[in-house]
Amino acid sequence: MSPHHLPGAPAIAAGALLACFFAFMPEDGRAADGRQIAAAKCATCHGNDGAGGEPDVPRIAGLQPAYLARQLKEFADGRRRNEDMAQLGAALSEDEIRAVAAWYGGRKMPAGSPGDPALAEAGRQIYEDGNGDPAVQPCASCHQPDGAGNARFPRLAGQQRPYVAKQLGEFKSGRRATDPQMADIARRLKPQEIRALAEYVGGL
Ligand code: HEC
Ligand code: HEC
Repeated sequence: MSPHHLPGAPAIAAGALLACFFAFMPEDGRAADGRQIAAAKCATCHGNDGAGGEPDVPRIAGLQPAYLARQLKEFADGRRRNEDMAQLGAALSEDEIRAVAAWYGGRKMPAGSPGDPALAEAGRQIYEDGNGDPAVQPCASCHQPDGAGNARFPRLAGQQRPYVAKQLGEFKSGRRATDPQMADIARRLKPQEIRALAEYVGGL
């Protein structure tokens, strides 16, 4: 092949530009489909509808999309630590994160299941009134009296109890370093109070 059959510099530059452009598009050029991503990458653990299965896997149905998207980024950047979720979070584009967060945010969280009544009652008191430590604001003041949460504070109602207890432990130890206020509150809760709170919110 003689040198003048090689593509010229302008053609190479145009090709590189196009390659760059397509690298930022979803593979098929359409907007990311949250339902499809959920089925392909999330459902084995969280279910297609986000209702979860295993006790240490959170239910993510009906959580606020902005909260869900933030968690995926925090797993990816290490402020929340979980091996499975870190890899998954890092593998999703901004567009895919938005789409899958909108999908799960639009599902319905299943109602809580009844738990141990005495333990749940102890949890309700702390949830509504705090534990006597003036620095422990009632959970209800942020997460809402019915635990439904809002755009800023995640829903707790109906959440898996072992997951709730594990998160409070991780705020306490600093392993989940996402929110200084939550960390300060968790540090002031005794293990028995954490169990009671998890029992209560799991039943809301
Ligand atoms: C191999 C199992 C597994 C798969 C697959 C998985 N997750 Fe998770 N996910 C978990 C576990 C376990 C946790 C809890 C981590 C912890 O304890 O901090 C979690 C936590 C989360 C949270 C935080 C929820 C909260 O209440 O703060 C979100 C959001 C989430 N996953 C979304 C997803 C999405 C979206 C996908 C698919 C792209 C996915 N997960 C795939 C196991 C999985
Ligand atoms: C001042 C507001 C505030 C108060 C009071 C508060 N929280 Fe939170 N809580 C937050 C915020 C903000 C987050 C989300 C942190 C993040 O983005 O990682 C959170 C997250 C959580 C989570 C993790 C939820 C999930 O899906 O992973 C649990 C569990 C929790 N709080 C329980 C409690 C309990 C129990 C109390 C009462 C003892 C309480 N919180 C009081 C603001 C508050």
